[in-house]
Amino acid sequence: RQTGLTGLDYGFVNTASTRSEITYIDGEQGILRYRGYPIEQLAEHSTYLEVAWLLIYGELPTADQLADFDDKVRRHTLLHEDLKRFFSALPHTAHPMSVLSSAVAALSTYYEGSSDPHDPDHVEVTTLRLLAKLPVIAAYAHKKSVGQAFLYPDNSLNFVENFLRLNFGNMAEPYVLEPTLVRALDRLLILHEDHEQNASTSTVRLVGSTGANLYSSISAGIQALSGPLHGGANEAVLQMLARIQDSGEGVAKFVERVKRKEDGVKLMGFGHRVYKNYDPRAKIVKESADAVLESLGVNDPLLDIAKELEQFALQDDYFKERRLYPNVDFYTGVIYKAMGFPTRMFTVLFAIGRLPGWIAHWREMNLDPQTKIGRPQQLYTGAPERRYPGA
Ligand code: CMC
Repeated sequence: RQTGLTGLDYGFVNTASTRSEITYIDGEQGILRYRGYPIEQLAEHSTYLEVAWLLIYGELPTADQLADFDDKVRRHTLLHEDLKRFFSALPHTAHPMSVLSSAVAALSTYYEGSSDPHDPDHVEVTTLRLLAKLPVIAAYAHKKSVGQAFLYPDNSLNFVENFLRLNFGNMAEPYVLEPTLVRALDRLLILHEDHEQNASTSTVRLVGSTGANLYSSISAGIQALSGPLHGGANEAVLQMLARIQDSGEGVAKFVERVKRKEDGVKLMGFGHRVYKNYDPRAKIVKESADAVLESLGVNDPLLDIAKELEQFALQDDYFKERRLYPNVDFYTGVIYKAMGFPTRMFTVLFAIGRLPGWIAHWREMNLDPQTKIGRPQQLYTGAPERRYPGA
């Protein structure tokens, strides 16, 4: 008989694993705040790096602090030349999320002398290295998949500009930056920067609670994010929309199949564990989708299918009763596609967005004197003691 267990909670629906000062969500009201600041205001007025600072250090940076932070991140963008060869060992068909996670794990081997989780200087430099190098690794994963040469970062460019150039520039001609694209991507990254104890952040905390370093914890977080019920949903949404378009079955028939739970088919990009009202991030993404596509001169019928699907589902009792609304992943894919990213890069963009949140949580966990190694209980339902034959 097991003693001391007070409950069984599949999926941690009712169990808090920690206290946290970083992000506040009210799922009933559709509220999301980072360190007290509403997501709508941050998306409108801030930048990825400023929000990263806010999440990690707890306050908005002064202009000098932000300039210094930006400068330090820029100075860490280069990858060791040997690490660049790591990409050659992987097939060009490799999913960029697997490449990203393994390259982050590999990155740690270059910094074994400066990745002690209990040394504040090591944590600081690891934070900068990860923020600077993850987008470079991501862009190389993209370049590898399309058979193009890797570019060196250009540190005269800001964070988002550099990332776009590394993805879409080439050796033969100068890359022309499109300001609308830069701002749109910056906003999308801000929207993804944190979301309290979601599956990947909980993974980062759990791995970190064992005393593993930040690289290992982030590498594990990337794997957790890759699943289609989590960050992988943005890729799955686009595949779903394309299938609806290609099959010609129409939105109504597709929704009927979802409701019958035929082969486990779900309306990807719908539903959320916490939001039982509209996801506030989805609201912002939806509002900007038309404007971004228009400014990029893209007319994508998949956006029309997405809108029709949303309208249809919102009026349907199945979705109303279960309080299922579009989440952040529903419209992002259509925008990423318009920006020129291949579908398999969508979750990688989510990972770059989420990185500051993961780092902030790992650091908060590491500084919290209450932290213990994460070790869930179980209710054993297997065989009672029995004798091994002949024993
Ligand atoms: N399509 C159809 N039915 C759904 C959906 C959906 N997208 N989501 C939930 N349901 C149904 C589910 O089948 C269940 O029905 P019933 O009561 O008849 O068994 C009911 O709604 C409750 O769902 P649940 O699975 O118990 O809810 P959960 O809180 O465990 O799961 C979720 C949340 C996000 C995993 C789920 O809604 C889902 O699988 N959505 C699709 C994947 C997706 O878009 N994920 C991205 C989430 S937001 C960004 C992120 O976290 O990365």
